[in-house]
Amino acid sequence: SQQNREQWGTRAGFLLAAIGSAVGLGNIWRFPYVAYDNGGGAFLVPYLVALLTAGIPLLILEYAIGHRYRASPPAAFRRLARPAEPLGWWQVGICVVISVYYAVIVAWAVRYAGFSITQSWGEDTEAFLFGEFLNVADAPGAIGGYNLGVLAPLVAVWIVVLVVLALGVRRGIEWANRIFIPLLAVLFLILVVQALFLNGAEIGLNAFFQPDWSAITDGSVWVAAYGQIFFSLSVGFGIMITYASYLRRKSDLPGSAMVAGFANSSFELLAGIGVFATLGFMAAAQNAPVGEVATSGLGLAFVVFPQIINQIPIAPALFGLLFFVSLVVAGMTSLVSIVEVVISSVRDRIGMGRLPAVLIVGGLLAVVSITVFPTDQGLYLLDAADHFINQYGIALAALVVVVVVAWLLRSLPPLRRHLETYSSLPLRVWWTVALGVITPIVLGWMMWDSLRAEFAQNYEDYPTWFLNSAGWGVAIGVIVIAVLVSLIPWKRRAGDADDSN
Ligand code: PHE
Ligand code: NA
Repeated sequence: SQQNREQWGTRAGFLLAAIGSAVGLGNIWRFPYVAYDNGGGAFLVPYLVALLTAGIPLLILEYAIGHRYRASPPAAFRRLARPAEPLGWWQVGICVVISVYYAVIVAWAVRYAGFSITQSWGEDTEAFLFGEFLNVADAPGAIGGYNLGVLAPLVAVWIVVLVVLALGVRRGIEWANRIFIPLLAVLFLILVVQALFLNGAEIGLNAFFQPDWSAITDGSVWVAAYGQIFFSLSVGFGIMITYASYLRRKSDLPGSAMVAGFANSSFELLAGIGVFATLGFMAAAQNAPVGEVATSGLGLAFVVFPQIINQIPIAPALFGLLFFVSLVVAGMTSLVSIVEVVISSVRDRIGMGRLPAVLIVGGLLAVVSITVFPTDQGLYLLDAADHFINQYGIALAALVVVVVVAWLLRSLPPLRRHLETYSSLPLRVWWTVALGVITPIVLGWMMWDSLRAEFAQNYEDYPTWFLNSAGWGVAIGVIVIAVLVSLIPWKRRAGDADDSN
């Protein structure tokens, strides 16, 4: 099975898929506000430092592990060192959790693309989102209602994802990204141009780029910069290990990581311009400061943008369509990449064909996603799962991976030799210091910081029983299951074979 592992058709295809995975909802709705809120133009300094001292080095590490051991995370870590296998299953578990709710947000965006044609969200877009559209219960509790409006787009999202995955690496994932990423670039560029022509755009841009240099000496700004980079590059949950396992032997990994990293950041910057030009229009229309209308996440996409679209004088439907279709396309390519980690890991583990794996494993994810999240509890579950899996899944897993790989196994030197065989970019001491010293310190500090906040106050003031089950329970459950799964002995020797190169 080593010989006939699927492969990308071209280097460009791999790069587009890697960029497609990285460029997601976070670029559009997270980066602009994080940058604005943490020093504006001055944020670019910590952000670039974070990109070069942690983001790209981690990306290169994941590429190296996937490429060297030619396997998805569990088998790749097992080949790196037998006791490291749980790290791989941990990443698979994180992908399981993220995929079931990430698909739901993409489905909302599909629905909102439709709404934007007639602006059927009405005047009070907030009441519409939480009331009419999501029917959110008053508080976390037992599931008490199912939301048919989300069902159809969610089923459609899962069908598209599973069809892409069933078609395989080259004809499915690569092909989809070859269409989606250029499409996303074009749609988003048109959106940004339209935004720049809005009345008040310059007010928003000034607010966005206005540098607050005092931010540079603020520790929390640096935490925000590293946090954004980890989240945005999707490092820490095995996607890049999986994608790199489909590369040819002779591949320039560090060069690819540079291209993917900078492409993702360019898209974030572009999104920052588009989003803040739009917020400037809103601020001007309401005669309010930009700070009053600026926000991120679900509120930005599904409350504030609809409000703005209501007021755009020229071609509001086009603007809405461009925005929500961009969210859908950006989200789809990320979703494909997370689900592929799960499919690929199960396949490598039990030697299953792609089609049965997609139908059984992918089908199961789809069923969970479709039964749990379009309910009146869906938003609470999504919010808690997202917060805890990001903090105590992705970030913690990344920390454990660097400590294990760099310090316990001392694998950086051999991995570096592997990387430099075909690299156009000399790694020198930069890569080793970034991963062995800077990344663990920063991640450790971030972990400490967020744990402190967690115990100081319940996240979103949710009841403790709810956070214990939907938050901690999920994050810790994933770790426990990962350890248990890796205790099951392997029948096939595939996991131990091929350590030769
Ligand atoms: N990196 C993506 C972003 O910036 C987020 C993502 C989440 C990607 C989950 C893949 C999987 O939006
Ligand atoms: Na991103």
